[in-house]
Amino acid sequence: MHLGVCYYPEHWPETRWPQDARQMREAGLTRVRIGEFAWSRIEPEPGQFEWRWLDRAVETLHAAGLGIIIGTPTATPPRWLVDKLPDMVALDRDGKPRGFGSRRHYCFSHEGYGEEARRITRAVAQRYGQHPGVVAWQTDNEYGCHDTAQSFSAAARNAFRGWLADRYGTVANLNEAWGNVFWSMEYRSFEQVDLPNLTVTEANPAHWLAFRRFSSDQVIRFNRAQVDILRELSPGRDIMHNAMGFYTGYDHHDLAQDLDVLGWDSYPLGFLEMFRFTEEEKRDFARQGHPDIAAFHHDLYRGCARDGRWNVLEQQPGPVNWARHNPAPLPGMVRLWTIEAFAHGAEMVSYFRWRQFPKAQEQMHAGLLRPDGDPAPAFAEASLSAQEIAAIGACTDAPKHAALIFSYDSEWITQIQPQGEGRSALWAAFSAYSSLRSLGLNVDILPPGTDLEGYNLVVIPCLPVMADGLADALGRFEGQIVIGPRTATRDAEFAIPSGLVDAGFANLVGGKIVRSESLSDRLQITGDGWTAKGWLDHYEGAAEPEFVSSSGEVCSYRHRNVRLSCVWPEGSMFDQVIERAARDAGLPHERLPRGIRRRTCGTTLFTFDYPTAQVSFG
Ligand code: GAL
Repeated sequence: MHLGVCYYPEHWPETRWPQDARQMREAGLTRVRIGEFAWSRIEPEPGQFEWRWLDRAVETLHAAGLGIIIGTPTATPPRWLVDKLPDMVALDRDGKPRGFGSRRHYCFSHEGYGEEARRITRAVAQRYGQHPGVVAWQTDNEYGCHDTAQSFSAAARNAFRGWLADRYGTVANLNEAWGNVFWSMEYRSFEQVDLPNLTVTEANPAHWLAFRRFSSDQVIRFNRAQVDILRELSPGRDIMHNAMGFYTGYDHHDLAQDLDVLGWDSYPLGFLEMFRFTEEEKRDFARQGHPDIAAFHHDLYRGCARDGRWNVLEQQPGPVNWARHNPAPLPGMVRLWTIEAFAHGAEMVSYFRWRQFPKAQEQMHAGLLRPDGDPAPAFAEASLSAQEIAAIGACTDAPKHAALIFSYDSEWITQIQPQGEGRSALWAAFSAYSSLRSLGLNVDILPPGTDLEGYNLVVIPCLPVMADGLADALGRFEGQIVIGPRTATRDAEFAIPSGLVDAGFANLVGGKIVRSESLSDRLQITGDGWTAKGWLDHYEGAAEPEFVSSSGEVCSYRHRNVRLSCVWPEGSMFDQVIERAARDAGLPHERLPRGIRRRTCGTTLFTFDYPTAQVSFG
């Protein structure tokens, strides 16, 4: 278990580096991440490398006893490279170039840039791959940040056509799969297929889904090229990437298969401000973040990671600069977030960043040190956390309670065709997670193919595409199952199955969804002491109604060990469905007071009190 920090030696005079390194160690930090935005200093002129400054930085940090994580600098290609390859920049959905002057100004499909990215990765890995101080690598930085996973460039279009030819074999197959007879959208060759932007009204959702899958594959391919080089030149070091919060632009399960450790960047206050939380939640948790934001991502990315190895590569230390409003965390929150990450099994928490840089875009973003070099409030909390984590020990034996199934494919389907505003599979997963966690349960968020052995409860909040074998696995599962709306109602090509739902799912729930409606918040459904909203699936079959509204709508059914919720997994009816399922599953549970969360690891019970920023464990 390590605490670390993101450090930019290139921002500070060299004379300060030894003091920084010493102070990091004194604070109890043992890891430092460097280099991910330093391309213009590493290679100031094409082909001319300036290694000496970075050599000295690496030596200084190593001499202080810090394990170094180096980032490949491909998120910030220098100006001279953009001048050399002007069409390497991505085009946005309106066809406008996303130019130089900030970061992530590249298109994943541009072959010339791909070559440059491999070249600089090789150069850095050759220089530091065998250095005893280098313990790990981070590839690039936050793939997809600033909405960059998709590009609508000529390079992307050409690569997309090749991808389609590989997937469908013939254009007739593509026309059939997508239903292109509708509106005379049929193609006569793959060369006629454009990207799905710039159409008069919405493009075919199957076209969008293919483009989302393609764009994800391009990210995975770009990353894999770097991983291959790092494995060759720096054997024995972990390779990581830093994922983001509430971000689904590529399939993280796929990406993680190529990594040793999946990292993510945790900014709970920024996320609370920027994402769809209620006004009440934004008010009550303004300085804490909603109590499930961090934990949801810990459990999601642990489930994505190849061997369950994950970490927090960036942790918010104070106000950020990029949300609508940027308050400071309540005193105690930096420590709470840190301990909570370890309670969920993190191997490392690394703060972003060491020292606030007084210039450029992030001058309002806090660090552990203020711009003048004196400690900021988070510094003391980081030091305290360092002492405490040693006492906690690694969380490797958390009991399995509930498995929550989530897939990126299903999320793309709900984003492309939400049918009701905001009805996304990711948010369904978050709400269902919150219901489970309000009962004090441990939750593992898993991709559809995962073995369900050992769980007592499986929750599928919203999974339009049933993955192969999932219905069978659920059929064999002896614990309790809760299934949410829209599930099994599309095939892998975004079409409604001939039997209206996936055949295995029909067996499981003893019937099928025959029609669906989405409901605005004005159309709330109420029952005896409960409310439901957002969606209503109409079911026909052998299952028994369990929750029926005052006006007669059946909002959830029960069939053997399966509960089917026809409404969106938000609101008190869904909470009750989850609570009944937890009870029937024999799970120890208890409705926790608002803002209190728990996590069990082995015999240790952690309690996180968000309203007061207190943590207790024992
Ligand atoms: C992350 C990013 C960092 C920094 C940080 C600020 O998204 O990886 O480089 O910009 O946000 O909060």
